[in-house]
Amino acid sequence: MSSMIDDLLNPEFLPDKTEMVSLIQTHISIVFLADGFVYKIKKPVNFGFLDFSTLKKRHYYCHQEIILNRRLSKDIYIDVLPILYDGQNYRMGIGEGRIVEYAVKMKRLPDEMLMKSVFFRGELKGEHLKKVAQVLARFHQKASNSMNINKFGEPEIFKINTDENFAQIQKYIGTTIQKRDFNTLKQWTENFYHSNRPLFMNRIKSKKIRDCHGDLHMEHICLTENLPIFDCIEFNNRFRYTDTIADIAFLLMDLEYFEGNSLSENLWDFYKKIANEHDVNSLLAFYKIYRAIVRGKVNSFQLDDENIGMEKKKEAIEISRKYFRLAKSYIE
Ligand SMILES: Nc1ncnc2c1ncn2[C@@H]1O[C@H](COP(=O)(O)OP(=O)(O)O)[C@@H](O)[C@H]1O
Ligand SMILES: [Mg+2]
Repeated sequence: MSSMIDDLLNPEFLPDKTEMVSLIQTHISIVFLADGFVYKIKKPVNFGFLDFSTLKKRHYYCHQEIILNRRLSKDIYIDVLPILYDGQNYRMGIGEGRIVEYAVKMKRLPDEMLMKSVFFRGELKGEHLKKVAQVLARFHQKASNSMNINKFGEPEIFKINTDENFAQIQKYIGTTIQKRDFNTLKQWTENFYHSNRPLFMNRIKSKKIRDCHGDLHMEHICLTENLPIFDCIEFNNRFRYTDTIADIAFLLMDLEYFEGNSLSENLWDFYKKIANEHDVNSLLAFYKIYRAIVRGKVNSFQLDDENIGMEKKKEAIEISRKYFRLAKSYIE
C-alpha cells in the first residue's frame, strides 16, 4: 500500500497533468488531491458496517459512490479509473500491467470554499445557511421513499446502528471514552427507544424516512454557486436510509462540535420552516447524540490504522474524546 501511495504522489503516474499532488487519509480512503482533480482510493478494510475487503467490492462501491453522489453533486463525479502495476510502478488510468486497485475521479473543489473552511474563517453567514437549508430540504423532499426504506425508521431496526456503535466503542473504553460516560450514553439510548416508540412510527407515517446523504458534515459541503454536497454514504444502505432529521442532525452537531451553536440554531430554523418540521426536538437530540458517537467512533478507529502516524493518532484521541463529551452534553 505504501509504495502505491508513494508512486501516485508523483504526477508522472497520474492520468491528468498536475503540478502538485497532496494526500488526505481518512479511516476508509486515500485521497490524492491534484490541481484540477481528486482521485480517491478505498482502503481494503472491513468494519462490519463497511466491507471494502476485496478488489471486486471496492470496484463496485466506486461505481456506487459516483451514482449516489450525483444526486447532490451533479458535475463533480467523473469516472472510475483503474490503477495498474507493471512490476515496478503503480500508475493510474491507462498503461501496462495488471489492475490492482480502482479510484474514483472527481473534479477538485476549492478547499477555501468548503463549509468548514468558511466557518473557520468566521465567514459563515445566514445567507449560506439559508442556501444549505434550501438545498437539503429540497433534496430530502425528493429523495426516494418506499416500504423497504420505511423499515429503517423502525426503532428496532435503527437500534442495530446504535448497538453496533456501542459494541465497536467498547474496546476504546479507557482510551477515548470513560467507562462511566460509555454506560451513561448506552443506558440513555436504550431508554430512549423504550419511551419513544410512537415518535419513530410517526416519522414513518409522515414519509420522513428517505434515501438520504448519511454523512452530512461541513467538510462535505462546498459553498460555491451550485452548492455541491459530496461524499454521501455509498457502502451501506442502512446508514443512508434514515430519517431526514437524522441527516441534518449530523450537520447541526458538527457546527456545535466547533462551538458554532448560534449558526446551528440558525440553520435549523431555516431548515425546519422549509421542511415543515414541528415537535421533533427530542428526536433531533437523539440523532445528534447518535451522530456525535459515530464521529467519536470513527476517530477512535484511526488508532488501529497502521497507515496513520503517531502524531495523527494523538490528535485522533483528542478529537474522539471531544465528540464523546459532546454526546454526553446533549443528555445533560
Ligand atoms: N473533490 C474534492 N475537492 C476538494 N477536496 C476534496 C474532494 N474530495 C475530497 N476532498 C477532501 O478530502 C477529504 C476526504 O475525502 P472524502 O471524500 O470525504 O473521503 P471519505 O469518504 O473517506 O470520508 C474531504 O473531507 C475533503 O476535505
Ligand atoms: Mg468524507
